[in-house]
Amino acid sequence: MQRIIQTAVTLSHRNSRSRSNSRCSLSQLAHTRSSVQDSNDLLIPKMPHFDYSPPPYTGPSSAEILKKRKEYLSPSLFHFYNNPLNLVDGKMQYLYDENGRRYLDSFGGIATVCCGHCQPDVVEAIVNQTKRLQHSTVLYLNNAIADFAEALASKMPGDLKVVYFTNSGTEANELALMIARLYSGCHDIISLRNGYHGNAAGTMGATAQSNYKFNVVQTGVHHALNPDQYRGVFGSDGVKYAKDVQDIIDYGTSGHVGGFIAEAIQGVGGIMELAPGYLPAVYDSIRKAGGLCIADEVQSGFARTGSHFWGFEAHGVVPDIVTMAKGIGNGIPIGAVVTTPEVAKVLTYRNYLNTFGGNPVCSAGGLAVLRVIEKEKLQQNAFVVGSYLKERLTALKEKHEIIGDVRGRGLMLGVELVTDRQLKTPAKAEILHIMDQMRELGVLIGKGGFYGNVFRVTPPLCFTKEDADFLVDVMDYTMSKM
Ligand SMILES: Cc1ncc(COP(=O)(O)O)c(C=O)c1O
Repeated sequence: MQRIIQTAVTLSHRNSRSRSNSRCSLSQLAHTRSSVQDSNDLLIPKMPHFDYSPPPYTGPSSAEILKKRKEYLSPSLFHFYNNPLNLVDGKMQYLYDENGRRYLDSFGGIATVCCGHCQPDVVEAIVNQTKRLQHSTVLYLNNAIADFAEALASKMPGDLKVVYFTNSGTEANELALMIARLYSGCHDIISLRNGYHGNAAGTMGATAQSNYKFNVVQTGVHHALNPDQYRGVFGSDGVKYAKDVQDIIDYGTSGHVGGFIAEAIQGVGGIMELAPGYLPAVYDSIRKAGGLCIADEVQSGFARTGSHFWGFEAHGVVPDIVTMAKGIGNGIPIGAVVTTPEVAKVLTYRNYLNTFGGNPVCSAGGLAVLRVIEKEKLQQNAFVVGSYLKERLTALKEKHEIIGDVRGRGLMLGVELVTDRQLKTPAKAEILHIMDQMRELGVLIGKGGFYGNVFRVTPPLCFTKEDADFLVDVMDYTMSKM
């Protein structure tokens, strides 16, 4: 590897137009030279051309930022990469570091940037609204929140047309769980092992991954067997897993439940798509037990899955409550709960207020996001490019033993790495090495899963086929060098 970096350094000094030559690496080479042969006769993949130069960066260095972060920010903060990356600019599917070096963003700020970084229409809507009125609270009227709610409701099936805005996914799920408990008069909630729903008291209870659970009071949640098609005992037979939910109702509750919450594709859990047939059977059991069905669309919503606008739609179910965040605002802090007029009535029993939820700026930005998804046909793009990318990643699995599974849909894909395909031994150290090397070549990719051994591919939905090729070529190149 060292020899390749040396080659890269020499070549990039000769060819790079980057402002700084002080930190040359493979990533510079990846977008300055095509078809460069490394010392092992492998071609170093070239990043697709992109016509944008970020303005000069005059802020503090990454070392200074890291020092401040260590001194003044929570010690709980962690970062990707041994040598953390300082990102200062973004344009559509690309990010730029302090030296103006470009990276392909295959993670989208954790499945959040859907329209592209600094998408002009979204920026314009936010700026215009900010100039006019930034905040007033919902105690007064304003068109932005009403217009956005109307547009959002138009994307929902059935009678799901009452919107409550929050500031995050955690808040949206906290509210949804409370609504289910109030409506049903029952405290018991069922969620899935390996699910992630947030980090406040109620949502930490619904979350079922020890890494994200503190030892604090989290009452009233039962965690059902995960319909995990890769490691699960029943393979892809969703109906068999669903029996566990019925068993929990029968053996672990009074026979009545408050509700059920699940992601259609578990994001933090490593892009795990629930086994087919699971959700219809579970929704049936829950409704018979008097509970409400909550779809957590925080990651899988807003056209990311390509085949549908919402992840649950691929399972042929209509939830009673849908929660969302991340993609809803393309990066601005907003979340929402959507439910039916009948269910929404429970919130009138007391005062319920969220100071910032649906403030004019976030609402204007959110409305612009919906319009851009439509105007730019981003759902179709997620379907076409996502299907192509999945095909290419699946082909890569034939070549590299370390790839145990390729899964997901649209631009929400997972690549699980294992050191032994039979035993499915998580390749925890290997994934860190590959991730670091991919960054050197100009590709940023996410990581997750219970064992931390799954690549998460959740880029902005404007990702192109050329970007997909570059991502796969870089992964292939990196794995070939191991
Ligand atoms: C599926 C899901 N639900 C809820 C949340 C919590 O959202 P937030 O971090 O905005 O509170 C997340 C965050 O990653 C998530 O992936």
